[in-house]
Amino acid sequence: MCGIIGYVGREPAAPILLDGLERMEYRGYDSAGIAVRSETRGLQVKKAKGRLKALYDLTHGGADMEGTLGIGHTRWATHGEPNDINAHPHISENGQIALVHNGIIENYLELKEHLLRQGVTFTSDTDSEVVAQLLEFHYNECHNMLEAVGRCLRRIEGSYAFGIICADYPNALIAARKDAPLLLGYGDGENYIASDVTAILKHTRKVSYMDDGEIAVVTNDSIDVFDSELEPVEKTICQVDWDVASAEKGGYPHFMLKEIMEQPEAIRKTVSPRIRDGRIVLDELHLTREDVAAFARIFIIACGSSYHVGMVSKYNWERLLRRPVEVMLASEFRYCDPLVDERTLVIVISQSGETLDTMAAMREAKRRGGRTLAIVNVVGSSIAREADDVLYTWAGPEIAVATTKAYSTQLVLMDLVGLYFAEELGTVDEETYAAVLAEIQLLPEKMQVFLEHTEDVQYLASRYFNHDSIFFIGRNLDYAMGMEGSLKLKEISYIHSEAYASGELKHGTISLIEQGTLVVALGTYAPLFDKAMSNVVEVKARGAEVLALTTEDLAEKVSKTADATIAVPVTHPILQPSLGVVPLQLFAYYVALQRGCDIDKPRNLAKSVTVE
Ligand code: F6R
Repeated sequence: MCGIIGYVGREPAAPILLDGLERMEYRGYDSAGIAVRSETRGLQVKKAKGRLKALYDLTHGGADMEGTLGIGHTRWATHGEPNDINAHPHISENGQIALVHNGIIENYLELKEHLLRQGVTFTSDTDSEVVAQLLEFHYNECHNMLEAVGRCLRRIEGSYAFGIICADYPNALIAARKDAPLLLGYGDGENYIASDVTAILKHTRKVSYMDDGEIAVVTNDSIDVFDSELEPVEKTICQVDWDVASAEKGGYPHFMLKEIMEQPEAIRKTVSPRIRDGRIVLDELHLTREDVAAFARIFIIACGSSYHVGMVSKYNWERLLRRPVEVMLASEFRYCDPLVDERTLVIVISQSGETLDTMAAMREAKRRGGRTLAIVNVVGSSIAREADDVLYTWAGPEIAVATTKAYSTQLVLMDLVGLYFAEELGTVDEETYAAVLAEIQLLPEKMQVFLEHTEDVQYLASRYFNHDSIFFIGRNLDYAMGMEGSLKLKEISYIHSEAYASGELKHGTISLIEQGTLVVALGTYAPLFDKAMSNVVEVKARGAEVLALTTEDLAEKVSKTADATIAVPVTHPILQPSLGVVPLQLFAYYVALQRGCDIDKPRNLAKSVTVE
């Protein structure tokens, strides 16, 4: 949430900042701003409410702002409504210090009171402005920016990634981080800070990731990093292998559609390197067979769609491993006094690797002695770095706020890991192991076949886009998959929707079914197909319009009851959600398109939720 970029070099900074912000706009898009410093004009700041386009127009693409040093920010509001004043950068009272912030300053009111008593005047409602003012206060005390930042950080509580420039420092950016992502980019005669690597990928692939408590002083030819005691820290520079094209739309009208279409290839990249001679090989994993055997309990912790991956995995892993697997929302896990000890494996799933609730849950699990394994997409992200073990999904950059390819790669990776552990534990027979593994390898091909003909889904979206409430029902894996289908639909089309376990419907919710209510009936899980169909008959009897999703071999049977049917290729039953979710993603996409929604940037949302 909130995107930060900073540049220092020889080129005009403003266009570089705007370009970087555009690539990070999915992190927040209610307002944006940039601050640039030049010899002749000093600190100049421009901010605009709304999408980045407004700031772009206001600055004529940055041409109005002179200077080769600057910071930029795209905002997802927490404190203070989205408007020009609350937009970042925030400027200290004397106009000499500009600051951008991602995170939340928890003790900002107390600090503000203190500064008000010193006679400081505030212009915005934000917690971030308090830090800009506090910085000026300490700078006036010590006249050294690094020291002032250090003093400031010792007083603030909460989470932050800061980018700071000061009129007295014509060639330096200052960055600091705690519990919010921030990385340093190494160029040639120019350097960068950014909350997201996609913002600077065009300029450099050499990065280092800041750790909590660190402060960096970035000039055009040096990057010096210090710990909270201002002692120098050596950073490891990593090479990012994502390419620029993968973070661009490449001819698609939306990133979401592009990312849906990229799923077969993304799954291939996740799976292929991990299969050798018909066996799963997880070189990155440090867990021994004895470690796995010693776990008495497994938790899967995540938020949103990643949590839905956990839901599917719970069913599959318990089936394969014969061990209790509990899936919990990260925001709940943290405060429920969880039963975690040295015999607990805690798996955290996160695309961004920065979701604060997931991160905090993982830390809590570690504190209690649990062994943590992270399933993450973004290489070098905070969760990936803090987990005991990490397995990357290698889905490439995901830009659309609504996740698709990250979900699919997480799911297939969890299936792979589940199968691997089951073999280690001896809880899966050779025949099942070989059958599931063979089908995992066929998933990209089968998904591709489905994606080549999306006309039926498009047609059904145009038939149903006017409904204002939609239910997704299914049993077992279909229920878990329905949760994802329902979330996709509501987040981008704004249609109210709920996912229900089919068998549970008659315990209350069926009262909402009336003439014409759209029910998306999920019947892809063969072992429970007949049971699922009897629940379809129940809603039909109450007037529901039924759109069924099933497998090709069951389509004929379903179409006798349902009003419309979508069929996906058949795979092993435990892998069926990997194929079933694709039409649900497409349905959400085309419904949102029909309704004229802003698909890649849905209202009130942002990618990478770094606040609690
Ligand atoms: C929904 C979506 C969110 C994320 C959730 C967790 O389309 O993208 O629900 O799945 O915010 O994010 P990560 O996986 O980055 O931890």
